[in-house]
Formats: sequence, structure tokens, C-alpha cells
Amino acid sequence: MKTTFLFLIIGLLISTEAVATVSPVKDEQTEKKIEELISKMTLDEKLGQMAQFDPYQFGGDEQTKQAIKEGKVGSILNLVGAKRINELQRIAVEESRLGIPIIIGRDVIHGYRTITPIPLGMAASWNAELTSKAMAVAAEEAASEGVHWTFAPMIDVSRDPRWGRIAESCGEDTYLSTVMAKAMVQGFQGDDLSDPKTIAACAKHYVGYGAAEGGRDYNTTYIPENQLRNDYLPPFKAAADAGVATFMSGFNDLNGVPVTGNEFTLKTILREEWGFDGMVVSDWASIAEMIAHGYAKDTKEAGYKALRAGVDMEMVSRCYLDNVQELLDEGKIEMATIDKYVGNILRVKFRLGLFDHPYTDETLAEKTILSEKNKAIAKEAASESFVLLQNKNEILPLSKDINSVAVIGPLADAPHDQMGTWVFDGKKENTVTPYTALTELLGAGKVNFAEGLATSRTKNTDGFEAAIQAAEKSDAVLLFLGEESILSGEAHSLADLNFRGAQSQLLDAMVETGKPIVLVIMAGRQLTIEDALYKADAILYAWAPGTMGGPALAEMIFGETVPSGKLPVTFPKTVGQIPIYYNHKNTGRPADYSNWTHIDEIPVEAGQTSLGNTSHYLDAGFEPLFPFGYGLSYTTFEYSDLKLSSKTMEADGSIEVSVTLKNTGKYEGSEVVQLYIRDRFASLTRPVKQLKGYKKVNVKPGETKQVTLMLSAKDLEFFNGTDYVIEPGDFDIWVGTNSKDGLHNEFSIN
Ligand code: NOJ
Repeated sequence: MKTTFLFLIIGLLISTEAVATVSPVKDEQTEKKIEELISKMTLDEKLGQMAQFDPYQFGGDEQTKQAIKEGKVGSILNLVGAKRINELQRIAVEESRLGIPIIIGRDVIHGYRTITPIPLGMAASWNAELTSKAMAVAAEEAASEGVHWTFAPMIDVSRDPRWGRIAESCGEDTYLSTVMAKAMVQGFQGDDLSDPKTIAACAKHYVGYGAAEGGRDYNTTYIPENQLRNDYLPPFKAAADAGVATFMSGFNDLNGVPVTGNEFTLKTILREEWGFDGMVVSDWASIAEMIAHGYAKDTKEAGYKALRAGVDMEMVSRCYLDNVQELLDEGKIEMATIDKYVGNILRVKFRLGLFDHPYTDETLAEKTILSEKNKAIAKEAASESFVLLQNKNEILPLSKDINSVAVIGPLADAPHDQMGTWVFDGKKENTVTPYTALTELLGAGKVNFAEGLATSRTKNTDGFEAAIQAAEKSDAVLLFLGEESILSGEAHSLADLNFRGAQSQLLDAMVETGKPIVLVIMAGRQLTIEDALYKADAILYAWAPGTMGGPALAEMIFGETVPSGKLPVTFPKTVGQIPIYYNHKNTGRPADYSNWTHIDEIPVEAGQTSLGNTSHYLDAGFEPLFPFGYGLSYTTFEYSDLKLSSKTMEADGSIEVSVTLKNTGKYEGSEVVQLYIRDRFASLTRPVKQLKGYKKVNVKPGETKQVTLMLSAKDLEFFNGTDYVIEPGDFDIWVGTNSKDGLHNEFSIN
């Protein structure tokens, strides 16, 4: 029995093996400077540091400059351009009483001008190093335009594709999100925050935002502490350990307390348990929104509750500016609290080197933005993000000797939409679409283009005739369907995840031509595409691939690159199955096929029966369309010989897990070897499977590689409601190609 031994984890720390602690350490000299500055500041100047404004709030250029001169502006968001930013910074540094530089924030989520795939796509690459490089591109370009701080990464574990912001996330899995969180922070921040090529990152939205009820944005979340600590907090802890400079408190109500006023998450966990000493910024007006939540009766109470919880900087709303004086007079808060928060903000400004180098080199942008190096990284990132879902008769890759292809669909030549959500600075003029890239690759004479539908939403089928003609005179149809960029992202939740507009009819019309169909889907989330599986020969899921999505797709379709992406989310067959994720609990009555009767098989007037007594849907069953971790290649891989260095693990030990991987196909390709475990019995029920490690490995045709992964007891710890524990007992282990298929073995912890 496991409960006979219980190993308490000292210090209540969440472990993620992949994450090393590299948090910047407070240095004495800086702390002294911070103290000195604060001792000279008036309350107005302190509140100025705690305020972040959007430029529209100042009311004009003169007012902006005056406010900065008076030391009333700590930060501005939504302002870009080195010249303009330098102009304002000069006023802050040279004309304000204390010369404190402003920090400029911006949503640089997946690229600044060179747009890389949406974060969900980056997560599909399962390539942390490449993800880091992509974020470094974003950082370098944004920094060259005067931006000091991005509001990224978004590391909310997201299990509901109806939620538009799943596009900005790393998907449904805690471990993968944790790996990506660290990679993204490192990409944005590099090794040295004061390097002019790096910017401060922001772990958001702390915390639980991805669990919004029904996938409706901004909605309520209920997450018990054990689930919060086991599933939702680890990516944030990883970001903190990776030295993320800032956190953003979210919009959601968590267990009855909005996270922007939540002392448990902001104070107890973030500050006391994790020792985070950077800055916490609210989300846009999320302090004032605590009034609408019903958690504060006015801006004064909202400001008080955010201060009590530990939000240092207020984005856009004025609860602090308008009420802190009164709160101090009434003794509800102390000046020491205000000083501490101002100190957190100044510390980030010092770490960014803003006091020593407040200005941006105005010649930098030209050399940096859309450089060949950046575009090459964007292409590689797009390429690795694509997931091959189906490839009947190995229709892909197509041969370049093909006579001609029809390039059809609303997303075949949609330079704006292929950039995806949360793009403020990317320009469609710089985007290369599949149509352009295919024309370049094959020559214009071989490409018959007709979009068929003007947008992904339109029901106007006037373009069908031209599309059918293009298909009929071609040897294959490359059909680009999905959703426009504006259909995912913040406040863009959907209740229906089928193809919109007349896209399904366009697919049908293409099928009727009898030509082979390669369906490329660009979308910010999983769509419900079961029907398309029966109709298309090949399906390549391309998310929103960004600036270089076109060339990356053209090259992959014609075999210059080989798909290696794996799903970072489970694909449901139908919306009614949501939430559906691979690492669910087993229930007392787990579903299996021997105990499932499809609705159509139930006899009419059947007597009251419980039809197998298991947890399933009569119509949709219990399995997803595609499991988490799924993704095909042009080549095939064979797994064999799963070995453990020991069948038992000490509570402070680890084992080596190895497997033989053979490339049994014709192409050199990369496979993501995935390691899952199940803790069979515990003091708290555990998921049926959990990803605990993976390796992306390149293998040549015919080549065999030994892949070794380390699994430590620390990877198996969990929060049991009271403590972090590693419990002795029996575990299943699988190593394989996705969360469903894998070689099995077992081990135990002593
Ligand atoms: C609101 C969004 O929730 C957040 O992610 C973003 O960073 C801010 N607005 C600033 O634009």
C-alpha cells in the first residue's frame, strides 16, 4: 500500500525536471539604488510608476509629454517606433524630477514583423529549442522598435477548443506547456535582460484562465487546489524558475475570487512559495473589473483588494491612481506596501538595463526586421508545426513532376489570415502565401488557382465554378480551408467548430471532380473535421503558420521537408465531447468498446438498462478523433525493446528508459518519442496517462536509434490536497508515438 510511506517534498516546490532555476538573484547594489530612489519619491511619483497607460488615455501629445515630465507615467503599452519612444523616454530620463525611465510594453505574442506560428502551432513542433529561437526573433525585432517588454508567453493550460484563446496557448498538457513556457521565456529574455536584443517576458494569465466555463472568454473558473497545483500552476512555476521578469494577473474569477484580487495565488504561492521578486501587472482593467465580478463595490475597494493581493502595476484603469491616497489616510494600506510594489517595478527596469541604456538605437530596426535569418527561422518553425493527420495511399508528398495542381480555397492566398491571432505589427505585404510559394516552386504554368470562396465564412458560392474548372484540368487539388485569423483569439470563442460558411460544400465540390485531394487546414484551434477524413486523401493541419507559412507548406507538400509535428491538443469528433483531453481520470466505470452500444443499435422500447454502465456518449462514444500527441510522417517508425534500467525507483532516484526506434520508411524524418506514465493507485486519484518526457529524434531511412529518456521520482510527485508527495507504489509506463499507442512496461517506487 502506498499510503504506508509518504515522502513529503520539502519546501512545497513543484518540480519540473526540464526546468533549471536561473532566476536573477537580487543584487545588493541595485536594491540600494531602488531604496534610495523610493526614499526620494512623492506619492504621486510612486503611483505614476504603478500606472500603465495606453497612449489614447493621455488625450494628446502635449498632455503625454507633460504627464511624463511630472513623473506620472511608469509604463506605456501599445506604442512602437524607436524614434517616438526615444523622444518620450528622453523626457522621462532628462526632464522628470527623478529621471526614471518608462518601460514600454506590447503584445508581441508570436512575432513582431516576422510572424512565426501561433503558440499552439509552436507547441505542435514539440521543439523547445526552435520555439526559443522563434521567440528570440520576436524579441530582437520588437526591441529594435523600442519595445522593452512583451505580454507573453501565455501559458494557460487549455482544454477547450471553443475558447478562442487556445490559439495563444501551448495546448492541453501541463508538461508540454511547462517545457514551452521555459523555452519561450528564454527566447524572449535570452541570457541577459539588459542585452538590447532581449525583452522582458510576462507569464500570463495567472492563473486558471484557460478553464473558462464552456470556453466562453473571461468566464468563471472552478479549480480545486489539488488540480490547480497539479495541472495549472506548473507552467507558471517553470516560467518563474526560468527567470521570467513579470507576471500578469488574469481576468477570471477563480473559485469565487477574481485572480487579480487573489491573495492565495498572488501572495501565498507566487511571492511566498516561489519567491518571485519581479513585477506583477494586472490585465487590461482587470482591477476595475472586480466591480463587475461582484467582488468590489467601487474602484476604491477594487484597488484595495488588488493591492492586498499584490498587483504592482495597474494596466489602464485608475483604481490605484484615484484611491491610494484615501486608502493610506484611512490606514487600510501602508506606505511600506506601496514602496514594496514600486520596488518590484524598479527592479525590472534595472534588470532591463533601462537606467544605464534608456534609448533604442534607431538604426537597428532596419537591420533586424524581416532579416533573412529571421525569415528562415519562421519557415523552419512553421514547417515543424505542421501535423500530418491523414495520408491515404501515401499520396503525399506529391512529385514535382506532376503536370499541374489546383490551388483552391479561402486560405490559399490569404496573407493576413495566415498570420493568425494577436498580430499587431505583422504586415500582410510581408507574408508569403501557399499560392505564391507554390507558383514559385512549380512555375506559374503548373498552378491553376481559384479561391472558390472569398473568405472562410462566406456562403456565397459564385466562385465554385472556377474552382471546379481549375480542379478538373489539374492532377491534384490542394485545398486550403480553416478559419480566418479573427475567428480565434481573445473574445473569439465559438460554439460550433465545423467548417464555416460554404467550406464543406467546396470540399464536396472538389471531391466530385474525382481528383486526389490534399486538404490543408489553417486554424487557431482544433476544428471538428471528422467528415473531411472520409473525403480528403491527405490532411495537413497547419494552424496559423505566419509570414513564411506558404513556402513551408509548399516545400512539405512536395517532399522537400517531412512532417514531424504532433498534436498538442486532443481533437474531438464533435463539440459535444468537449472537454476531452488525454490525461483525464479513469472514473469508477471507465468506458470500453465491449460495454458500449451505439445509439442506433439500441432496440426500440428497450427495457430500462444501463447499457454497459460505463462513462460514454451513446452517440459520440468515448474516443476522440485524434489523440493528443498524434501526428504522421512521410516515413514510418517502428518502436521496439522498451527497457528500464531498473524496475524499481528510489523515492529520490531516477531510472533510464530506453527504446529502439527504427525508421522503416523511405524518408529521413523526425519522430517525437513520447513517455507517459500512470500512477495506478494513490492517495488522490491520478490521470489515466501523463506525459513525463519526450525527445524529438531525427532518423535516416533504415537507421535504428536507441532513444533514452530519464524519469526521476521527482517527475512523479503531485499535490495530494495537503502536500507535494512522491508515493511508493506501482506505475505503468508507455513509450510511443502518441498518447494512445505505445510500448508498455511497469515499475514501482520503493
Ligand atoms: C488583454 C489580454 O487579456 C492580455 O493578454 C493582453 O496582454 C492585454 N489585453 C494587453 O493588450
